[in-house]
Amino acid sequence: MPAKETYNDKVVKQFTVMTVIWGVVGMLVGVIIAAQLFWPALNFDLPFLTYGRLRPLHTNAVIFAFGGCALFATSLYVVQRTCHARLISDKLASFVFWGWQLIIVLAAVTLPLGYTEGKEYAELAWPIDILIAVVWVAYAVLFFGTIVKRRVKHIYVANWFFGAFIIAVALLHIVNSLALPTGLMHSYPIYAGAVDAMVQWWYGHNAVGFFLTAGFLGMMYYFVPRQAERPIYSYRLSIVHFWALIAIYMWAGPHHLQYTAIPDWAQSLGMVFSLVLLAPSWGGMINGIMTLSGAWHKLRTDPILKFLIVSLSFYGMSTFEGPMMSIKTVNALSHYTDWTIGHVHSGALGWVAMISIGSCYMLIPRVLNLKQMYSSKWIDYHFWVHTIGVLLYAASMWISGVGQGLMSRATNPDGTLTYAFVEIVKFTYPYYAIRLLGGVLVILGMLLMVWNMIKTFQMAKDVAPQPVLEPAAAH
Ligand code: HEM
Ligand code: HEM
Repeated sequence: MPAKETYNDKVVKQFTVMTVIWGVVGMLVGVIIAAQLFWPALNFDLPFLTYGRLRPLHTNAVIFAFGGCALFATSLYVVQRTCHARLISDKLASFVFWGWQLIIVLAAVTLPLGYTEGKEYAELAWPIDILIAVVWVAYAVLFFGTIVKRRVKHIYVANWFFGAFIIAVALLHIVNSLALPTGLMHSYPIYAGAVDAMVQWWYGHNAVGFFLTAGFLGMMYYFVPRQAERPIYSYRLSIVHFWALIAIYMWAGPHHLQYTAIPDWAQSLGMVFSLVLLAPSWGGMINGIMTLSGAWHKLRTDPILKFLIVSLSFYGMSTFEGPMMSIKTVNALSHYTDWTIGHVHSGALGWVAMISIGSCYMLIPRVLNLKQMYSSKWIDYHFWVHTIGVLLYAASMWISGVGQGLMSRATNPDGTLTYAFVEIVKFTYPYYAIRLLGGVLVILGMLLMVWNMIKTFQMAKDVAPQPVLEPAAAH
């Protein structure tokens, strides 16, 4: 192979910068809707500022723009470094980057205008769905093409997780988006009634399992050992973890539809598979955290490692909570309450955001040929405001959720409801203020990150492309 081959870090840099930018945008919309729940008048009677339109804007922006860019950046970095090969095509890499940004912009325009297919996490209109499928296939070709081109026999475990995420998301997106167009921005799903609900939550849950989990586990398997400078705790466990996780996730979707019109056996199936899911999830968490064994002292001084390890703690917490919430009797209390929102954000802000932020702090200096970010102290401040923000968010929603559940089911001796709906809203109100405060802290942390990133970019001068390492030269 030609000695001068270099890595394509341009696309990694582009996606990393956009991760931070979309992170700020998506979380800012989160803060706005959190504020609207406290001050409903904040929509100023403008249709495009109403809660119903901004909420899907928030979920799409944080999951697909922020989380998506983080996944593209890290997977395209990791696949090159672990395969000792440049991406197969620069043009394809560019197409994936610009295609994904176009999709995000189209989402940011159409959702506030009120165009939606009405399926949660799959709201975008059918022409955008087609564009997503095209860009995703290009991404798959880029990633797997590089794996084929690899110069080591072994395929590192992080790539297994990224690969599963790419294949599963393609499958989920295409099957769930099948629809009959009835206009440029309107269509009907090809499924009806309970079948539509089953397909939607097969998609919805596996979006959590593969988009919000498997891909981020890929990140964990590369960045935690690199930052800790230790080998992964157990390679055998990582393989068991991989196969168990992907085999079980696919069946757990019906836990989103407990006590609905879908067959009772399907609801029980969803519950049982969710309970079993606890084992591989914790296997992964333990594998990540134990990688630090013998190097725990690094946690005192390394704020990036703090982000990575605390993200794993949140991963463990939310994957314990999820199986509990899937138990039908527990779900009878938690469903339709803020408990679900608390669970979502301990996973999303605790696990997904923290592992992404930690990985970005590692990636930015690496792709700029620098030793570290401009300020380590700012990373530490970011860590603390973010952690306090997430704890305020999750704890307030847990309390308000359990309270809402208990108040909704309380009855008087004569069988009438003890609490009117408005009393439950009144009870919830203070917790919405605490959640808002948590969100503001998280955003402040993100702004620190933007500033740190700008300063780090200013430090980098004449960034020469990095040569592809000989397999033996790398560790
Ligand atoms: C500053 C940070 C954030 C704030 C203030 C925030 C706020 C909110 C609010 C107010 C809701 C609506 C809750 C409701 O309808 O009762 C929501 C929903 C949601 N958020 Fe966030 N969010 C933040 C960050 C994130 C991040 C980083 C992610 C994902 C990576 C995320 C994923 C979601 C999801 C999936 C939902 C929908 C939950 C459901 O339907 O059950 N959020 N968020
Ligand atoms: C073992 C792992 C997990 C299981 C078994 C699980 C289970 C559950 C259950 C039972 C619900 C409530 C469904 C309902 O009542 O409507 C739920 C909601 C949710 N979970 Fe998890 N969870 C797990 C991990 C995670 C993680 C790690 C994340 C985020 C990164 C996450 C994100 C969500 C989201 C976004 C929802 C809200 C879906 C919606 O209604 O819009 N979950 N999960």
